[in-house]
Amino acid sequence: MAISAFSSSRANGRPTPPPYTILIMNGPNLGHLGERQPEIYGSQGLDLIPAMVQQLLGERAAEVELSFFQSNSEGRLIDRLEQAREEGVHGVAFNAGAYTHTSLAIADCIAWIGLPVVEVHISNVLARAEKIRRTSFMGESVLGVISGFGLMSYALAVQALHAHLRAVP
Ligand code: DQA
Repeated sequence: MAISAFSSSRANGRPTPPPYTILIMNGPNLGHLGERQPEIYGSQGLDLIPAMVQQLLGERAAEVELSFFQSNSEGRLIDRLEQAREEGVHGVAFNAGAYTHTSLAIADCIAWIGLPVVEVHISNVLARAEKIRRTSFMGESVLGVISGFGLMSYALAVQALHAHLRAVP
């Protein structure tokens, strides 16, 4: 799935691509947000994220182009990260779901591709009952972690990536 959420335009009316392309990635069991355990993950879907980013970034939202990818498969997530590197994607907001806590393979990929990745969680993984959710294999290689703000976690991750990309040429 790829959705371009924002675009900017020049005074002459010709569209110009926004400078920052940000990929929002979701791992296993995150393809049915809104239906899955709404008491934990809320009752709304990913389609709300562009509006949330718009709210957080205001006019600067035009500087960001969002695309989305979800897979339940560890290998496909790694393939997408490698593809993002080849495409020159500027940053990734990545909710790897349970793979966060188990996948050395995804962590290895993030460690070498050289893209800024923000680890995202809808729930506050530190406050969850299962101790394993406090472990993140990818934690060492990501730019930072945003956890516990519901769907807003994704928009906050995009805001953080935007600020990072503006600050680091
Ligand atoms: C999650 C937290 C993980 O522990 C869990 O396995 C998920 C979702 C979150 O967004 O809160 O699938 O990443």
